[in-house]
Amino acid sequence: MTNTKKGRVFSGARPTGRQHLGNYLGAIRNYVALQDDYDCVYCVVDLHALTTLEDTDKLRGWTYEMTLDWLAAGMNPDLGTIIFVQSHVPQVTELHLLLSMATPLGWLTRLPTFKDKVRQQPDNVNYGLVGYPVLMAADIALYKADVVPVGVDQAPHLEFTREIVRRFNHHFGEVLIEPQAKHTEFTKVLGIDGEQKMSKSLDNHIEIAASPEEIEQRVMQMKTDPARKFRSDPGHPEVCNLFSLHSFFSADQVAQIEQDCRGAGIGCVQCKRLFAQNLSAHFAPFRERRAELAKDPDVVWDVLAEGARRASVIASEVISEVKDAIGLPKPR
Ligand code: TRP
Repeated sequence: MTNTKKGRVFSGARPTGRQHLGNYLGAIRNYVALQDDYDCVYCVVDLHALTTLEDTDKLRGWTYEMTLDWLAAGMNPDLGTIIFVQSHVPQVTELHLLLSMATPLGWLTRLPTFKDKVRQQPDNVNYGLVGYPVLMAADIALYKADVVPVGVDQAPHLEFTREIVRRFNHHFGEVLIEPQAKHTEFTKVLGIDGEQKMSKSLDNHIEIAASPEEIEQRVMQMKTDPARKFRSDPGHPEVCNLFSLHSFFSADQVAQIEQDCRGAGIGCVQCKRLFAQNLSAHFAPFRERRAELAKDPDVVWDVLAEGARRASVIASEVISEVKDAIGLPKPR
């Protein structure tokens, strides 16, 4: 069979356990869609997680839960997709070291993402944290990815990857592929507080695997248009976080909702109920597939084992090419 796909996509996500609407709209649904046009390699980057995590006892459970969500959402090895855990293919740590030798330290310490982390965790500015983007570059380069889907927050890291690949290739020959960024359309989802980015650590999230009752309970806590104090006040959908989510999960009703909100024909409580219902219905098939897959935990671990086997084939080849290009002595 000839491969008619346009090239290889690589993306990674830190194992954060059950996924939320921000993960879904910002990443997962793009991961699923890209499978139609690309050979996809999706990685649970457990090593990256170590740069910020002091508490590692959750890593296995969170890897399992995240992969389960991925599979239930339609990331599918039967379509050729490789899904694996970063540390299962240790060649990435080798490439990380080799690339680090070609990385000026100033490139790393000047990155806005590094400066943010230093601010967030001043007592844990470890060596690995400085090298975070080098490890990410190693991920992408090791699988010779042509395309990397990125949101705005990861754009500087991808730019760094491109620079390091260019630098490597300039020194050692055209061995690595300079990846293209594919900017995804919906990058930022606010939490139920309506202020900060949706995140598990801020506990302002809604899990995609939540039951209809849990969804209802979280949605009822959502902040809406702050200027709308009374039911009779006209609303401003353009500033309402709830409304922006309606446009995804209530697409065929959104024009009516907008009109009703502006004209105070619908109250925020009613609007939330409608949203909770639609959200719950949207993820009903997902919840069913997830429950089915969860019956046997081996299913997830088997997918990851097979993914690591397939990823290793690519990784071994590329790491040999890289060592060869550098001129490291070969073993007999
Ligand atoms: N740095 C990414 C994040 O924090 C995760 C990541 C690791 C990644 N390696 C990658 C993303 C390679 C894209 C490609 O979200």
